[in-house]
Amino acid sequence: MILVTCAAGKTGKAIVEALRAANQPVRAMVRSTESEEALKTSGITDVIVGDLVHYEDVLEAVTGVDAVYYIAPNMDPNERLNGENIIKACNSAGVSRLVFHSVLHTQIEALPHHWERHFVEQEIMNSNLAFTILQVGSYMQNMLPAWGKMVETGIHRMAYDIDAPMSLVDLGDVAEAAVHVLADDGYINGMFEVAGPVITLTEKAAILSQVLGKEIVAEKENLDEFLDHGRAIGFGDFTLATMAKMFPYYDEHGLVGSDKVLGWILGRSPTDFETFARRAAAAFDQGS
Ligand SMILES: NC(=O)c1ccc[n+]([C@@H]2O[C@H](COP(=O)([O-])OP(=O)(O)OC[C@H]3O[C@@H](n4cnc5c(N)ncnc54)[C@H](OP(=O)(O)O)[C@@H]3O)[C@@H](O)[C@H]2O)c1
Repeated sequence: MILVTCAAGKTGKAIVEALRAANQPVRAMVRSTESEEALKTSGITDVIVGDLVHYEDVLEAVTGVDAVYYIAPNMDPNERLNGENIIKACNSAGVSRLVFHSVLHTQIEALPHHWERHFVEQEIMNSNLAFTILQVGSYMQNMLPAWGKMVETGIHRMAYDIDAPMSLVDLGDVAEAAVHVLADDGYINGMFEVAGPVITLTEKAAILSQVLGKEIVAEKENLDEFLDHGRAIGFGDFTLATMAKMFPYYDEHGLVGSDKVLGWILGRSPTDFETFARRAAAAFDQGS
């Protein structure tokens, strides 16, 4: 049995789906009863509701599982406490594998949510657990909520420089890699970069223009306007402060890794942006 935390989020759903497709028994941990209901409706029977900041909840979730696929909440002020609870609970319950879904380049202090996570990585390395750390790049799928608006306006807009290089990875590839890693003890004690091919917003817009058969232009969204919008739709102060540092960093450096390790884990080339865009366009056309 594999426990997946934050199982109802974007990442969690993809990992749970891939594990189930591989016939692996899954327990899901979610925070809210709404997420519990949604997962149960989709056929997952073993769902635990709990908060990662509460040790007793975490201990209940990990008790009786063989492995934990630890997805942490995104941009969370309790990053270290959540991580400590997972590690302590895994040790206490005798869990035999811990796989941490981390982020690319946690060594970067200028990115607070990456830097906080490198402390969790250290604690995992010091835990004596059989661990694997996956340092995962930004997902291609992050643009999907704005896909319809992009098609309508002809503008692909993000709050960073249109020529900043980003190693965007297909979340389907990430989930496939996670299944391989969990099934193979050869990944124990390793930290692996799970990143996709490097691409800029300008290059994405050119590919999207071809795929959609209409001109799509890359545009940098004004950061203050982006943050105002984020506040209006309920982003918390910690998330807003983190984003206020993240986008200027992206302007200057992008966020680039290498897709070599992912290709090696998958045994094939990682999905490129054009393939992702063609799939996304077909799914959007079917849904609209
Ligand atoms: N997005 C990317 O491009 C990307 C790339 C690489 C790595 N990652 C990493 O992937 C992880 C997940 O990101 P995501 O975008 O999939 O997140 P997401 O869609 O926002 O989902 C997060 C989930 O976390 C749960 N959650 C939040 N706080 C919790 C708590 N205290 N205790 C238990 N559950 C809690 C929520 O559960 P409820 O729904 O029940 O409230 C929510 O469903 C993050 O650590 C992020 O750094 C993301």
